[in-house]
Amino acid sequence: MAKIALCLTGADLDENRRYLNRYQDHIDLAELRVDCLHRSKLSGLSKGTLSEFIGDSPVPLILTIRRSVDGGHWDGCESERLILMEKLIPLGFAYADLEDDLGPEAAGAEKAARDGKVRIIRSLHDFRGIPEDLVERMKKNGRDGALPKAAVTLTHSREIIPFLEAARELEGQEKILLAMGERGFFSRIMAERLGSFLTFTSPAEGQKGAAGQIDPVTLEGLYRFRKVTASDPLYGIIGNPVIQSRSPELHNRWLDQRKLPGVYIPFLLDGVDHFDRLDQLLDIRGLSVTIPFKEAILPFIDKISPGVRSIGACNTYYKREGRVLGENSDALGFLYPLLDRWGIPRDTEKPLRGVKCSLIGAGGASRGVLFALVSSGARVLVLNRTLGKARTLAGEFGAEAAPLSSESRELIKEYSRLIVQTTSLGMAPMEERDPLEFYDFNGKEFLYDIIYKPVETVLMKRAARAGCGVLGGWEMLREQGKVQFELFTGMPVPTEKP
Ligand code: ATR
Repeated sequence: MAKIALCLTGADLDENRRYLNRYQDHIDLAELRVDCLHRSKLSGLSKGTLSEFIGDSPVPLILTIRRSVDGGHWDGCESERLILMEKLIPLGFAYADLEDDLGPEAAGAEKAARDGKVRIIRSLHDFRGIPEDLVERMKKNGRDGALPKAAVTLTHSREIIPFLEAARELEGQEKILLAMGERGFFSRIMAERLGSFLTFTSPAEGQKGAAGQIDPVTLEGLYRFRKVTASDPLYGIIGNPVIQSRSPELHNRWLDQRKLPGVYIPFLLDGVDHFDRLDQLLDIRGLSVTIPFKEAILPFIDKISPGVRSIGACNTYYKREGRVLGENSDALGFLYPLLDRWGIPRDTEKPLRGVKCSLIGAGGASRGVLFALVSSGARVLVLNRTLGKARTLAGEFGAEAAPLSSESRELIKEYSRLIVQTTSLGMAPMEERDPLEFYDFNGKEFLYDIIYKPVETVLMKRAARAGCGVLGGWEMLREQGKVQFELFTGMPVPTEKP
């Protein structure tokens, strides 16, 4: 099983000791990044303080003095770095990181490692891409019992393909392999599947928002790192942006509660042009598809559902008996919380028959909602700032259209049993905006705002104050996720404890 290593990038040993103490139950190794220590602390290192630190460490330590060309903070000269390396290696480290382009100048450090039975990690870092000769270099770097390491950069998500192909070619060879940055986020979670000896993590509090970093608790808890084997099913979400998505939290927890194998991982993609090969290499069991790929994914699906056909967008990619199926769980995800709230059984035919409803917005998010409303029997008025878009959308689904302005006030009153908000107004970073500011609630309307961040929008607050029933988008997100989970795994989401 791949190990979890914690990068210790504190400015002094006390800070690093705090990180070790905090995460010791979640890690197998730690990498002391001596280049991150404050300059003033370096001279005293060999005089006992470091030996003590190593002796106290609950896990074996890797010694690293990362050069600035490799993304490190070492700003001294190279000979000074190698001398320091040679001096520190014998103090009790288990591993020493030496770059693969070092020549005879590193002989002293190499000898110190050999003499002290300290295993060398022979590393390469590429911030511009993936080296053409990655596989050969890794093989060469594994000579003399060294552990080869490559940290590469995916400049476009299509680079995931050569990255995975390299991992495949290197199968069976001990190595550390990872892709840096947000596009490579998956590689840190998939270390076991990549055949990587370890994955690097950072303290949550020390990441300062660095892209692609993950902390040990999240890796072990949320991403089930120690429970997932290389052959377990892989689920995920593709989108852009996607790393902040809440879906991994939901799906991984459900997998855990159901005691099902597998993991659900976010994949930041720039496009889906290489999706076929990606799926071949990853053998994806199920995917949530989010903006901007809900339409672009369609050509990769063998059979789409009637909902996907009407909505024109797919957010659920899954497989049955070797075929790829596409569903849109947004529609049911939207509908179910509303029916539950109104006490209407989910399996009712045309559960919203005759309900007059205003739909605010005519963008991508409104299509699934409109499909759900219309196919449930509701009579819908679509309101949008750009009236032409409202008319086109309404025309497709047999609804009415009107401008989103005070002139529609009376019409909204007529279509006010249910008001559904699907624009981006009120969503972070436009939290203060209210798309219906010209309309006064009388308390009889039911307002459903599909925004989930913030959990309660300005509009929802105003409606609630007027006495309206209110529903937010968080429940829709959860519900559409539940529909996906069931399609992915064939099992319903476990019922929640009250
Ligand atoms: P999405 O696909 O995420 O729904 P979108 O297609 O850009 O995003 O649609 C956003 C919705 O929010 C649209 O209904 C848009 O109205 P327009 O069609 O007139 O652009 C609406 N919207 C965005 N900003 C708005 C604003 N400042 N005032 C009113 N509506 C706005």
